[in-house]
Amino acid sequence: MKLPRGATLIVASHNAGKVREIMQMLAPFGIETKGAGQLGLPEPEETGATFVENAALKARAAALATNCYALADDSGLAVEALDGAPGIYSARWGGEERDFAAAMTRVERELKDKGADNTRAKFVCVLALCDPSGTVDAFQGEVHGHLEFPPRGKNGFGYDPIFVAEGETRTYGELEPDEKHRTNHRARAFEKFKRSLS
Ligand code: IMP
Repeated sequence: MKLPRGATLIVASHNAGKVREIMQMLAPFGIETKGAGQLGLPEPEETGATFVENAALKARAAALATNCYALADDSGLAVEALDGAPGIYSARWGGEERDFAAAMTRVERELKDKGADNTRAKFVCVLALCDPSGTVDAFQGEVHGHLEFPPRGKNGFGYDPIFVAEGETRTYGELEPDEKHRTNHRARAFEKFKRSLS
């Protein structure tokens, strides 16, 4: 699928951190973007069993509600010793309040409870592009690394303060936004999505 020149693209996310990152990545392409929150669109329930299913259902809900192209992101942290948890439940891991300090503490506690020395983890991002008729294309990116506790750094969002990418010593919370956005899971998914921009 190709995104037609001049089309408005709805960024189908209510997560301000993600909307910011996605809009920054789209900025050089001169695409008019609007956030789903800004348009007052409801947030669909994430009933899918995979990142791809959840990204697709969010993109499709926004595309059908607006009759525009929509781009959604479903992403999360997958911790190897926790069998991929929190995975698709990353946003909900800190409870209804989406308290990421609590979510990071929970990851640390579950690793301790398992007696796991293995702190390997990856961030996964699936970007789903949906056209106004409901057809979806999905693009996946991953970045591998490990976790460090206690959390460090004030940049970014979510689990950034505990994630250290391969080859780095600083957490994502300590990286400047530009450094993180150049190489992270969302950037890698975006590299694939870019082929849809004509
Ligand atoms: P969802 O895709 O809206 O279900 O939520 C994904 C969740 O994964 C976010 O709320 C964050 O907790 C986490 N996450 C995804 N991408 C990142 C990232 O780049 N940094 C930190 N946490 C992330």
